[in-house]
Amino acid sequence: MCGIFGCALKNGKAAPLIHAALKRLEYRGYDSVGEATIQNGILNIKKDQGKIDDVHKAIDLDNLPGNIGIGHTRWATHGAPYQVNAHPHTDCENKIAVVHNGIIENFSEIKKELEGLGHEFRSKTDTEVIPHLIEENMKKGMSLVEAVRDSLKRLSGSYAIAVLSNIEPDKIVVARNESPLVIGVGEEATYCASDITAFLPLTNRTVILENGELSVLEADKYEIWNIDDWKPVKREPEQVTWTTEMAQKQGYPHFMIKEIYEQPRCLRDTLRLQDLYLDLMATFLDRAGEVFLVAAGTSYHACLAASYMFSDLAFLATHPVIASEFIEQEGMAININSTILAVSQSGETADTLAAVDYARNRAATILGLTNAVGSTLTRISRVYIVQQSGPEIGVAATKTFTSQMSVLAQLALRVSKIRGKIGHRQIEELEKSVNQIPDIVEATIKKNESKVLDVVKKLKKKPVFFFLGRGISSATAQEARLKLMEIAYVPSIAYPAGESKHGPISLVEPGFPVVFVCPRDETRKTIVGNIMEMKARGASIISVIEEGDEEIKSLSDEYFEVPGSLPEILTPIAFIVPLQQLAYYMAVEKGLNPDMPRNLAKSVTVK
Ligand code: BG6
Repeated sequence: MCGIFGCALKNGKAAPLIHAALKRLEYRGYDSVGEATIQNGILNIKKDQGKIDDVHKAIDLDNLPGNIGIGHTRWATHGAPYQVNAHPHTDCENKIAVVHNGIIENFSEIKKELEGLGHEFRSKTDTEVIPHLIEENMKKGMSLVEAVRDSLKRLSGSYAIAVLSNIEPDKIVVARNESPLVIGVGEEATYCASDITAFLPLTNRTVILENGELSVLEADKYEIWNIDDWKPVKREPEQVTWTTEMAQKQGYPHFMIKEIYEQPRCLRDTLRLQDLYLDLMATFLDRAGEVFLVAAGTSYHACLAASYMFSDLAFLATHPVIASEFIEQEGMAININSTILAVSQSGETADTLAAVDYARNRAATILGLTNAVGSTLTRISRVYIVQQSGPEIGVAATKTFTSQMSVLAQLALRVSKIRGKIGHRQIEELEKSVNQIPDIVEATIKKNESKVLDVVKKLKKKPVFFFLGRGISSATAQEARLKLMEIAYVPSIAYPAGESKHGPISLVEPGFPVVFVCPRDETRKTIVGNIMEMKARGASIISVIEEGDEEIKSLSDEYFEVPGSLPEILTPIAFIVPLQQLAYYMAVEKGLNPDMPRNLAKSVTVK
């Protein structure tokens, strides 16, 4: 998730506006920044790695000539956050500049084709194929707009782009497919941006560009077409009444709830990861002597869930280990046959990096799963995968958790394929289910929104909560417990349900809230037994169930439903969602700020 901006002004300098707008978009990505403007037929570009303020100090982002320009603040997906990978990217002759937000899935084959035609590439990004495609088309005599349109037809994946060229210096061509793009209509100016935040102080008259549309912006007008049938689209500007902060949250009251709602998009992006790295990592896991899944906090719960996925799908035993305990718990057993899969959304958590360092010094193989390209974990891993969730601002991890599990499930499936442990039919079924997860999560969020609010109002005074689950759902229960503790400060206990009768049940008394995570799976019989044990002591049963599960509904005081049907091994990705919502609304109901829980940080870089 990057931030793009563009402006075509009748009068005045574009660069200071671009700089200021990128600052308002910085929450979308902050590892490199760049701008392009045109004056007197010359395309001027400034870009560098680093935060906007630091880059501005170094190269002055306000000092580019011209009243038309585009800009970009980056969240790296392909290519580490170095200057060469910063946007804008250009063609061979530096006549076409492109900024892009999204993922071009088929970029490597297009790149090969263009290199075959003599194009030279400077960066490791997927984006750079776009200016070269446009260049190739303009060589065939197409106008800039025609060349952009034709190039887009070659791309698969998600994109929001803005294109500037000194061949046609008075316009910006923009287009989108999945990634967001809005147009701002000013008095003597037209703007485009990843979200309204960027131009809100300049105008509140906005036009949403829909998927599959292209628009040409000039200082005094904008025109929209449908890319496929090239039919013109008439759309009048609408007035928005948001503050900038509201706009960054896109109208949501907090980043956390916004990120909960972003999960379907993030999960779709995890389905676009490059086969090359997934297969490579799967091969390492298949050949490993012993596999340790190492992480902290929420990432550790993703590892816990993954240990069930690897054994169930690939017959691969893995050891989920809390990072800060790794050296004490496993240290002496680590050797050249050990493989560490370290999971960290920030890629910078000190406990996880310390465990990795220790293992590396004992010749273990290091694999990494992170959300941050260029992070330390990517630099010390033999193979790493970037999960593509975009920046997560809320301190409590939500979208990065479900995306981690989606990637780990895909890895387990690939190891299973390598090992031929389960039949083709079953693999196909599971792959189909993995592809259905984004829609199921979308439906789950919507289905439980008001229900969660009701339950929170009823249970907000409860001093302690219990979270129970069996099998892989015990990982879901652990994560749900962490969420309620970290943002609503409600003391909570999570246990594998079978273990609850060996002690914790002593806490239960009438009205004691016990949350059961119980998908329709192999553990059904035993989990019903556990529910009965708790009910016998007067507990208040709150269950997360598959939609239409009448048996558990009848045993529950409250329940949250997950539409659709997922194989047991994938259920945590959807079943955690109503419990993320529960924690969020409990915090809000208690007047707390879910984005900035006390005593916590997004990434703890001290041991
Ligand atoms: C904590 C965060 O500091 O670190 C948690 O508050 C997070 O949300 C944990 O799960 C681990 O972070 P990471 O970046 O290593 O996944």
